[in-house]
Amino acid sequence: MYNPNINLISAYSTTTDDKIVSFEDTYGAHHYDRLNLVVRQAKGCWLTDATGRKYLDCLAAYSAANPGHHHPKIVHAMTEALLGNYASVISNVVYTDPLGVFLEKVATFAPQLAPRFGANGNKVLPKNGGVESVETAIKMMRYYGWKKKGIKDGQQEIIIFENNFHGRMITVISFSSTEKYREGFGPLTPGFVSAEYGNLEDVKKLVNKNTCGILVEPMQGEGGMQIPPAGFLQGLRDLADQEDLLLVFDEIQVGLGRTGKRFCFEHDDVVPDGLVLGKALSGGLVPLSIFMTNSELMDMAFNIGSDGSTFGGYPLACVAGIAALTVIEEEKLVESSARQGKKLKAAIEKIAETSPHVKEVRGKGLFIGIEVVKGNAMDFCRQLLDLGLIVNDSHGHTIRISPPLNINDEEIDFLVESLEKVLL
Ligand SMILES: Cc1ncc(COP(=O)(O)O)c(C=O)c1O
Repeated sequence: MYNPNINLISAYSTTTDDKIVSFEDTYGAHHYDRLNLVVRQAKGCWLTDATGRKYLDCLAAYSAANPGHHHPKIVHAMTEALLGNYASVISNVVYTDPLGVFLEKVATFAPQLAPRFGANGNKVLPKNGGVESVETAIKMMRYYGWKKKGIKDGQQEIIIFENNFHGRMITVISFSSTEKYREGFGPLTPGFVSAEYGNLEDVKKLVNKNTCGILVEPMQGEGGMQIPPAGFLQGLRDLADQEDLLLVFDEIQVGLGRTGKRFCFEHDDVVPDGLVLGKALSGGLVPLSIFMTNSELMDMAFNIGSDGSTFGGYPLACVAGIAALTVIEEEKLVESSARQGKKLKAAIEKIAETSPHVKEVRGKGLFIGIEVVKGNAMDFCRQLLDLGLIVNDSHGHTIRISPPLNINDEEIDFLVESLEKVLL
């Protein structure tokens, strides 16, 4: 039975840190360069090690833990589902109530997408990890190109951007500009052409008779916490309308309040045709992602048998999703992100005025990047870990600051004091 007062330092097991590290070393793939910390518990903005030392989590699993770790309302909803026997995966041949309720909640959480195709609301296709929903979006853009634009199947082209990050499976790494993500993993998936991020003229040059869509992050997370120039997203919107292309925004990292708006695209007053959400959609407790679009487009692209996923939209994930979206609304996490982000960014900009290490500070809401002069962001992240702060680099050159959206004033003060110690 869940007991919110439980506070075991070793939490799950009494296995020592050294053993945990050696187990990973021996039995795990070495695909992450980890900081030297074994986390035993996570609560709110804080992570705890086996000695009871607490670390302020300023990464929040790359925006997945937006409401803070183990948010009590989400944990409660999930615990009820488990104890009430409505949590486990059910064969997709029958309906389940959590999925229906989740679909209604999330489809109406966003404005009408792709309004040029109708105003009958949005429809949602649920998956697990974010990359799966990115691929779902790609399927829809290609299908539209074939079915509606008459592009020969196999010739469809999608415009993507330099320094994009959309996940790690074969199709999306095929159009990554990071060599390390692709090298040796061929044959890669064709059908993608790359434009410079933020350069509308570059995008225009790539449009041809086979172009069916544009896939873009409205702010780039892994690409170095980049914010596109004013007018860029509107320019993409106009181009998509003129050329009959589908414009899809990947908001897996920047959606759901991270940048101080419910959706990142609201900063530019631009509405996409398709939207991909993940990470924070379940409050960081189970994998849950979605592809959402206008109901006409969804019905056009997907019919019985053309897509599916055993766990996509399974009850426990949906219960977490409903609770996480409710928490965003009830606890005004979007407003908190805007307010606390403004305060934090102003304090970091003040540090930057005299720091010999800071090249640029970028960000909106609690999505803030500190680009360092020598491109060695991870060196600073390791120093910050010693001070009790978890951050990592984005694209090697930028310290990524993305704490839970309900970070309080005291926690921000601690974060700023720590940054002062390493950057001044
Ligand atoms: C913008 C963006 N798209 C897609 C993904 C992939 O999500 P996942 O790791 O859940 O597959 C990420 C993950 O960091 C991301 O930031």
